[in-house]
Amino acid sequence: MRKEREMNIERRAFLQKSGATVACACLGCPIITEGKMPSALMAPPNPPGSFRVEDNKLIIDLGKHPKLKEEGGWASFEAAGRKAVVIHPATNEYKAFENKCTHQGGTFTYRHKDGFMQCVLHGSRFDTKGQVVRGPAALPLPEFKAALDKEQLIVNLS
Ligand code: FES
Repeated sequence: MRKEREMNIERRAFLQKSGATVACACLGCPIITEGKMPSALMAPPNPPGSFRVEDNKLIIDLGKHPKLKEEGGWASFEAAGRKAVVIHPATNEYKAFENKCTHQGGTFTYRHKDGFMQCVLHGSRFDTKGQVVRGPAALPLPEFKAALDKEQLIVNLS
């Protein structure tokens, strides 16, 4: 047990020194479970004034959110008591899902080139339709309706 703990500490120190990008897919990863999320696994911040909430609808001004407007972009939001991850998998196609893994509630990063969202806790992967492509999660992600209206993306959080 002690030896395992020492190895975890050495591994963490190595990763911190090397600045390595970590896509952790192991159960009980000390990096994640200690609440220190590597920045590579966190959603980029939303630009100020790029979204608002009205009547349980998340309204994103894509003109003010160039990262999400770019194909392959993604963002996460907390609004109206819900967490949403919004991805842009294809030209003028946006998808929005509950940003809460169906395994144990982890949040997601989106890997456009690989075509999936990955849970930061234990590595479950979901395709761009929210279907599980790798566990441990077994259930698909709840999807929010998202509609594009010119420069606005309207996500219904109800
Ligand atoms: S919370 Fe375990 S894989 Fe997402």
